[in-house]
Formats: sequence, C-alpha cells, structure tokens
Amino acid sequence: MDFTSFLCRYHWKRVLVLLWILSPWKSAATWMYLGVSSLAGSVQDNTCNDVPGLVIQQLEVCQDNPESLLCISEGAKRGIIECQNQFRNERWNCTISGNYSVFGEVLRKGTRETAFIYAILSAGVVHAVTQSCSAGNLTECTCDMSRYGEHDIDGWKWGGCSDNIKYGIWFSKTFVDAPEVIQHQSSRNVRNKMNLHNNEVGRTIMTQLMSLRCRCHGVSGSCAVKTCWRSLPSFRKVGFVLKRRYEKSIRIARRSRKRLRRRDKTKRQVTIKSDDLVYVHRSPNYCRYDDTKGILGTIGRSCNKSSTGPESCDLLCCGRGYDTQVVRYVDRCHCKFIWCCQVKCKTCETMIDKQTCK
Ligand SMILES: *[C@@H]1O[C@H](CO)[C@@H](O)[C@H](O)[C@H]1NC(C)=O
Ligand SMILES: *[C@@H]1O[C@H](CO)[C@@H](O)[C@H](O)[C@H]1NC(C)=O
Ligand SMILES: *[C@@H]1O[C@H](CO)[C@@H](O)[C@H](O)[C@H]1NC(C)=O
Ligand SMILES: *[C@@H]1O[C@H](CO)[C@@H](O)[C@H](O)[C@H]1NC(C)=O
Repeated sequence: MDFTSFLCRYHWKRVLVLLWILSPWKSAATWMYLGVSSLAGSVQDNTCNDVPGLVIQQLEVCQDNPESLLCISEGAKRGIIECQNQFRNERWNCTISGNYSVFGEVLRKGTRETAFIYAILSAGVVHAVTQSCSAGNLTECTCDMSRYGEHDIDGWKWGGCSDNIKYGIWFSKTFVDAPEVIQHQSSRNVRNKMNLHNNEVGRTIMTQLMSLRCRCHGVSGSCAVKTCWRSLPSFRKVGFVLKRRYEKSIRIARRSRKRLRRRDKTKRQVTIKSDDLVYVHRSPNYCRYDDTKGILGTIGRSCNKSSTGPESCDLLCCGRGYDTQVVRYVDRCHCKFIWCCQVKCKTCETMIDKQTCK
C-alpha cells in the first residue's frame, strides 16, 4: 500500500492525530506555551503554524479564526500570572520554565497543583475570549444581546453590553479540551479524565461568578430608569475562588471507568460536583530541589518569622531554619504640605529584618 492510498483509506485527520500521538514533543509542548510567549511579549508575530504542540482541532480553530490566537495567548498569560499570584507564598510558587514544557515536570503528575493549573488556564481563555467579544475584537462573536431591551420583573431593563460568556465557554471547551479529548479517545487514561474535569471546573467557576452590573438613568441620577447587564468577574476573583477549590480538592481513584470516583471509599456516595477540583497523585512536599520532578526547593525564599500562614518561616523552610539579614530601607517620611503647592519630605532610614530559608 503506497502512501496516497493509505491517506485515502484513512481520513487524513486521523493520520495527523496518529502522527501527533507518535510525535516526541507531544508531552512537552502544549498550547499553554502561548502564555509564556505572551509574557515575553513575542506573540504578536506568531501565526498558528509557529506554535508547536497544537493538535489538529486546535490548528483548525486557529486557522479559521486567526485573531483568536491573541486571545488564547492572553488567556494563558492571565492564568499563569494569577497562578503565580495565588501561590506566591507557597512552597510551590507556580514557576514556569520559559520553554515549551511551561510548567516543567510538574504537569507529568496529576497532583492538585496540576489540577489548579488546568482550571485556571481554561478559565483564563474564557475570560480573555469573552472580553474580546465585548470589545468587538473577534469576528465570530459580539456582546450577548439575547435579552437586550427586555424588562426584568424587578423593574429594570436589560441594556448595555452583556458579556457573552457562552461563546467564551464554547471556545475554551473546543480549544483547551481538544488534546485531552483526543488522548482520551485513544487511551482512556484517568489523567485525561482528570484534566477534562478540571478544565470544566475553571469554566463552571467563571459562570458562577458572573454578576449583574447596573447603571441609573434619570434626573440627576434618580434611578427612575435602571439598565443592567451581565458582567465577567475580575480575574483576580476567579483565582481566589479556584485557590479555595484547590485547598478542598478531591482525590480520585485511578480506576474511574465511566465516571470519576473518589478514592476514599467511605465517601464514594458523595458526588463530585462540577466545581470540585480533582487529582490523582499526592503532591510532593516541594521542600528540596529535585530536577527530575521540576521542584526548585525553598532555599533562599524569603519568609515571615511572625506569621502562621504558608509564608511563615516554619512552613516555607520545611523546618530547616532561616537566616536573618538586616536590610536598610530608605523612604520618604514626615511629609509636609507647603502653601502652595509643594510637598516637602525628609528621608528616613529604617532597618528591617529579612528572613530567608536555609
Ligand atoms: C526547560 O527548562 C527547564 C528549566 O528552565 C530545563 O530544566 C529543561 O531541561 C528545559 N527543557 C527543554 C525541553 O528544553
Ligand atoms: C482589542 O484589540 C485591541 C487592538 O488589537 C487591543 O489593544 C485591545 O486590548 C483588545 N481588547 C480586548 C479586550 O481584547
Ligand atoms: C519562586 O520560588 C523560586 C525558588 O523556589 C524563587 O527562585 C522565585 O523567585 C520564586 N518566585 C516568586 C515570584 O516568588
Ligand atoms: C508577617 O506576618 C505578620 C503577621 O501575620 C504581619 O503582620 C506582617 O505584616 C508580615 N510581614 C511581612 C513583611 O509581610
């Protein structure tokens, strides 16, 4: 059988899927890399074909809709920045590697950190795409005008630009889920189930956090007429809620045939909800440098001697203790307002103790 008849017998897309499954970089490169190049400010020059590791469905979305590439990058970037913000005080602080592997070896294991990463990047894409719809930056979508002009029972009127989260969700599902769906079809792996579920958690949280924003009209703001529209949450808030979900995430059994099952047999009856993050593997303690697992360790991290949270020297330094350095801190102080119009300050010097993990 020559190659052309091979292509005829098998749909060419299947061949591409097969090539993808066999390709050496499949586990190393993902669409998440777009977030890294966006952080580096180099995404403007990218075209769909420049991005390694996109699966055929993702390439199609990108080629049908080239301007969406910027949104996807922006979404991944928001996810990464917010992950680093939410984890800034933790032993694992969401470091990225800067190359195609993005989160390095961390994503190889299905830990709760992996769960958080999938959820927040999936939510990031919903957020960025939906905002772009409202801004008129995408040809495929606009504001959600489905209820525009309708009167609500509470007396106000739908107006303004309601954020079109339906499109954002559809987009995230189509694009972000694609690699997992393909792999799941070929291998029925619990990791793909886990990733798909956590992608969905990111989207569910986005939907839950949509809120109503209103504006008053009428004589000097009398609110005789009020118009309202559905609005996206700030991404900071999404990160905050997902971090709480991370803290309560549920460990699932490796053998989850059709539906996900809790690992804890005594709680099997309690359903796993669509906003519960799930994980398969226990997390390492992230205390010591381990190249093979992508762990940087906490030596040299600055910690807080007097706090009791995760940033405390006790927890962050894993019991190894800490070094104290006295750091000179210069600031403007005793500022006076002099009529008119000057502010005069002195410079004050304070010495502060700075602790870093041994
Ligand atoms: C990616 O970067 C990390 C650390 O920055 C490095 O350890 C790893 O070998 C790199 N991987 C590749 C494929 O270049
Ligand atoms: C819309 O596109 C403009 C120009 O490319 C960009 O500056 C702006 O940030 C985009 N807005 C959103 C919400 O994506
Ligand atoms: C994260 O931790 C690594 C070492 O564990 C450190 O080098 C890096 O500066 C930290 N990043 C932030 C944003 O604190
Ligand atoms: C350290 O923790 C204490 C108690 O939580 C807090 O009052 C203080 O502002 C923290 N210091 C720094 C530098 O964050």
